[in-house]
Amino acid sequence: MNTPPTLFSEEEIASQVTVLATEIDEAYADADLLVLIGVLKGSFIFLADLARKLTIPHRVEFIAVSSYGTRESETADSVRLLMDVRHPVVGEHVLLVEDIVDTGHTLAYLKRLLGARNPASLKTCTLLHKPDRTEEEVELDFLGFTIPDVWVVGYGLDYAERYRTLPYIGELPPEMR
Ligand code: IMP
Ligand code: MG
Repeated sequence: MNTPPTLFSEEEIASQVTVLATEIDEAYADADLLVLIGVLKGSFIFLADLARKLTIPHRVEFIAVSSYGTRESETADSVRLLMDVRHPVVGEHVLLVEDIVDTGHTLAYLKRLLGARNPASLKTCTLLHKPDRTEEEVELDFLGFTIPDVWVVGYGLDYAERYRTLPYIGELPPEMR
């Protein structure tokens, strides 16, 4: 199998994850507990690395969504909830952890869904952002990298379920799709 060219190496990712963990540690220094909610499937590797770098007390939850669409590389026009979190988040500090924000529809949907449950606070942490693709503005409180409008894979991100466990983030050229 050909491997996609590197956009961010393992070392670059690891150092940016450390920066994010430090920012999050500082932002929630006074909170009793932080609830990290990873958005499946894409965020599972990022969340695992990020959570292990945090020094503040935290709990890990997952939520799963899918976007409607038929194309392999479909991003969200409308979002469907596949699996909810297992505990109420009322009165808790919630941090949504996402792999990538593309149009913004997924994160906007999740902020509305969880915001309606009256958490003490609700913020977002996303590893990657494609600002050129924005259709719905969502505040990105903690952001790893801004990227151009390219399809990226690896470190949790897939193309039709392929490349998800590449250790680095690669840019998938059209001829590899
Ligand atoms: P949004 O709702 O359009 O912001 O899309 C968010 C979701 O689309 C992400 O959580 C990913 O699952 C998927 N996505 C968007 N761009 C990419 C990409 O470049 N590689 C892999 N998945 C992507
Ligand atoms: Mg995702």
